[in-house]
Amino acid sequence: MRAFVVRPTSCLKGELKLPGDKSIAHRAVILSAISFGKTILENFPLSEDCLSTITVLKKLGIKINIKGIRVSVFGKGLYGLKPPSRAIFVGESATTFRLILGVLAGQNFRVRLTAGKSLSQRPMLRVTRPLRMMGALIKAKPKTQDSKIKEEYPPITIKGARLKGIVYKMPVASAQVKSAILLAGLYAKGKTMIIEPIKTRDHTERMLKLFKADLKVKGKAILISGKRPLISPRRIYLPGDLSSASFFLVAASILPEAQILIRNVNLNPTRTGLIRVLRRMGAKVKISRLKYQVCEFEPMADISVMHSVLKGTRVKKEEIPSLIDELPILMVAACFAKGMTVLEGVGELRVKETDRIRSMVENLRKMGASIEVRRTRHLENIIIKGVETLKGTRVSSFGDHRTAMSMIIAGLNAKGNTLIDDIGCIDKSFPEFPRLLKSLLISNHK
Ligand code: S3P
Repeated sequence: MRAFVVRPTSCLKGELKLPGDKSIAHRAVILSAISFGKTILENFPLSEDCLSTITVLKKLGIKINIKGIRVSVFGKGLYGLKPPSRAIFVGESATTFRLILGVLAGQNFRVRLTAGKSLSQRPMLRVTRPLRMMGALIKAKPKTQDSKIKEEYPPITIKGARLKGIVYKMPVASAQVKSAILLAGLYAKGKTMIIEPIKTRDHTERMLKLFKADLKVKGKAILISGKRPLISPRRIYLPGDLSSASFFLVAASILPEAQILIRNVNLNPTRTGLIRVLRRMGAKVKISRLKYQVCEFEPMADISVMHSVLKGTRVKKEEIPSLIDELPILMVAACFAKGMTVLEGVGELRVKETDRIRSMVENLRKMGASIEVRRTRHLENIIIKGVETLKGTRVSSFGDHRTAMSMIIAGLNAKGNTLIDDIGCIDKSFPEFPRLLKSLLISNHK
């Protein structure tokens, strides 16, 4: 247990450069492993989740060297992976688990994937169903007998097969599911078409194009042709992670004497929902020096933010995938905004590392927030009324990295100290967070 005490402050000042984007990093390692030759990944995030992807690919016979934040992957082509000697433990990374299932669906061997405590409770049917339709043989742990809802969980045993292309209309908006199908599509005979209900992050599509896959995007439909080798770009610079930046964007917006600059952040439009919503709330977020020359496949720029008075807003369900991981920190921003904020259709938050509706509502209520969850027939919505101030108290991370970081930011703008029971979970996505935050804090406590 690593408890953490947050003392309130009004100041946050300085400049940051963040580790590479977690989602892009997973994809970069996987595609490098299944293309031929060496690919160097610069600004690699050394978070537990990204290291899980490296470990899994090493167990599948890929040589990968880590030197600081530079990772070299020695790819062996689409069919170069080797059967592992025993089951592979994926840890807690859902992105690793779901994406690697897509690759394993096209191999001619059997693999058993096991997972940590939290990941073992996350739904997998959303990905096993389309992969079975393509021809993969999959055995997974079903939901307990008494439940009427059909679902599957890790551990999963997958035996690859000769896959066939499918047309798949996705029932849930999920970039992980889309990516698993696209990766399986690389091994399938013919074309695979995926239709999304709402557009989700498109890092896999961009990365596949960078590796010269035959892929076309038309609105919410994506078409990929199988059985073609990938060609590595040899070197990839990973732009800074906007999800990691989001904690600082909100902190700088709510603290009265704040002004910060974050360099080289990924600004892929399928990820920038939080920036759009914060601006709508009145935040002063400025984007400058948009650069493609270092990182040609994803947009990257510097972001500066300073304090402003926020006002409530309505976030529609169509906007949710573009800020799904930023909802916990957006809830914190909403607590300090004037008036009401409504977050519509946030049900997917229930199946993240923890039930993030429960973790955030329970914690913020403890600090004095006015926050409610309302279910309509099809949607789950969160309604937050801004308050004058939150009060520092003892809260829980629920073992969830984004809950922990969001509560630290809430504590900075509260009255009195806030104690977070355990922040060890932050290492899952952003181990540098406590150190970077401290570098911006000026010892000018309220
Ligand atoms: C991710 C997709 C999202 C997101 C997760 C990373 C990805 O999950 O919440 O942190 O890298 O594809 P879903 O696909 O389950 O929405």
